[in-house]
Amino acid sequence: MSKAVLEFKDVSFQYQETDKSIDLLDSLHFRVFDGEFISIIGASGSGKSTLFRLITGLEQPVSGSIHINGEQRPNRLGSVGYMPQQDLLMPWRTIYENAVLPLEIKGVSKQDAHQQVVKGLKEFGLSGYEQNYPSDLSGGMKQRVSFLRAVLSGSNILLLDEPFSALDAMTKLSMQEWLLAQWEKRGQTILFITHDVNEALFLSDRIFILTERPVKQLKEAVVPMNRPRTLSGLHAPEVTKMKEQLIEQLRERISL
Ligand SMILES: Nc1ncnc2c1ncn2[C@@H]1O[C@H](COP(=O)(O)OP(=O)(O)OP(=O)(O)O)[C@@H](O)[C@H]1O
Ligand SMILES: [Mg+2]
Repeated sequence: MSKAVLEFKDVSFQYQETDKSIDLLDSLHFRVFDGEFISIIGASGSGKSTLFRLITGLEQPVSGSIHINGEQRPNRLGSVGYMPQQDLLMPWRTIYENAVLPLEIKGVSKQDAHQQVVKGLKEFGLSGYEQNYPSDLSGGMKQRVSFLRAVLSGSNILLLDEPFSALDAMTKLSMQEWLLAQWEKRGQTILFITHDVNEALFLSDRIFILTERPVKQLKEAVVPMNRPRTLSGLHAPEVTKMKEQLIEQLRERISL
């Protein structure tokens, strides 16, 4: 078995609402292994984005600990590549200036940063757009810039929060195939939040499902498909069965 790159050990999290504390996670324990592709699904408000904010250290647990690459640190933002739920490209910065941001923050020399960004933009099909602004780009292109920014953090763990939710079906499909190709090439570990069960099945090794509140345990499904994946693989009987089970689990949560 490969090593755990991310581990939650008995993590509890609460937030304040007017005068009371509300429990969102209760002694949650899970592990993600090196090179895995994990999708996280669950009803709106079930705590998916909060898991990511805890991993980055933007929120802190009330008890328990979070280990990244075997280490426990209060500030974990530099240890992971994070693509938040809203596209956070800065409208006043060019595509080049947006992409270079994580390298600026890390204090990488201008020359070195330039090389990495130019190479990244080329690989991500964005050459020629260096001097454009985010408003000049299509949704899919903006997602690629945002994803490149997470990759340039240099981390072995990428957290992608609903990266493709705003895209039309065809663009989404080509982005999914592109993401799988990038993942296979780079060998990073990906945690991917989505509301789309088909997307989770097509991309992931395992799917985590948030079904209760507070979250005490993640339900887990191991996707029964070999790689490389094809769309027709989604129609295999064991995959359709899993899809039905996942939808059922999400429905149970909604009817609580
Ligand atoms: N710091 C906080 N202050 C107030 N409420 C919070 C805080 N953190 C989380 N919450 C609440 O916890 C719940 C879970 O939020 P979260 O954003 O993690 O949900 P989600 O599963 O990502 O939902 P969606 O699918 O809509 O993005 C929400 O009800 C949210 O309002
Ligand atoms: Mg969310």
